[in-house]
Amino acid sequence: MSESHYFEFQAAWGLTKHMGGLEASRELIEACGISKDSYVLDVGSGVGITACILAEEYGCQVMGVDLSEMMVKRAQDRARRKKVEDLVEFRIGDAQALPFEDGVFDAVMCESVVAFPRDKQKVINEYTRVTKSEGFVGMNEVTWLGTPPRELAEYLSRALGRAEFLEANGWKHLLEKAGLEDIEARVYKTNALRQWASEVKLINPRDYLGAWGQLFTLFLKSPEVRKWIKEIALPPKSAFHLFKYFGYGLYTGGK
Ligand SMILES: C[S@@+](CC[C@H](N)C(=O)[O-])C[C@H]1O[C@@H](n2cnc3c(N)ncnc32)[C@H](O)[C@@H]1O
Repeated sequence: MSESHYFEFQAAWGLTKHMGGLEASRELIEACGISKDSYVLDVGSGVGITACILAEEYGCQVMGVDLSEMMVKRAQDRARRKKVEDLVEFRIGDAQALPFEDGVFDAVMCESVVAFPRDKQKVINEYTRVTKSEGFVGMNEVTWLGTPPRELAEYLSRALGRAEFLEANGWKHLLEKAGLEDIEARVYKTNALRQWASEVKLINPRDYLGAWGQLFTLFLKSPEVRKWIKEIALPPKSAFHLFKYFGYGLYTGGK
């Protein structure tokens, strides 16, 4: 399944996620020094969960950008349902060429996004460009905790929209090369149960069940989705030790 099919599938599913769930989002928000007075850009905002939390819990103004039109529609619906449309706006945009002037945002953050675009350095350079001086760039990205078996990395890339994950030094290097300062990395190990529990906390149980219902309908309706599920139905043996390698990191840098 191509990268764009994968995200269209996620948008139809109505659920996007990142490692560490709500706890990781709060930690990243705080590490980026976000407060009520901040103007925040959430890149790859997906169905808008974190953007709405930023508005609801922190009271700040938020711009969400996503490559997928369907994601943007989902996120706009969520903002209306949560009654935060006056604080949150969503637009279609590519992380590799952000549709904003230089130095607009107090903080630019993203969760599980930089793994997808081919030119990761261009993405971080863009984040840095649109951040105000003395502002912050923060990201939560899947992080290899050790070198994974090749077949596991290839399988995950196939299963997850051609994602390419890095080790902590690789992610940090992108921030350094963009000219950011005081770079910090907090790397976490997790496990399947903890990850699942963190996702359930992030959205309400009715939405979660609804998303699985959507997935089942998609499976019945879409040959593309059936093909992809068949392709990933048989993971390599090393997938049983996935969480030995598959962690996440919160990375921040100041401009
Ligand atoms: C794994 S989802 C995470 C979504 C959200 N941040 C969350 O944590 O729920 C990745 C998101 O990044 C978006 N995305 C992928 N490549 C992108 C790009 N080049 N520019 C903007 N968004 C992108 C996808 O459409 C998708 O919504």
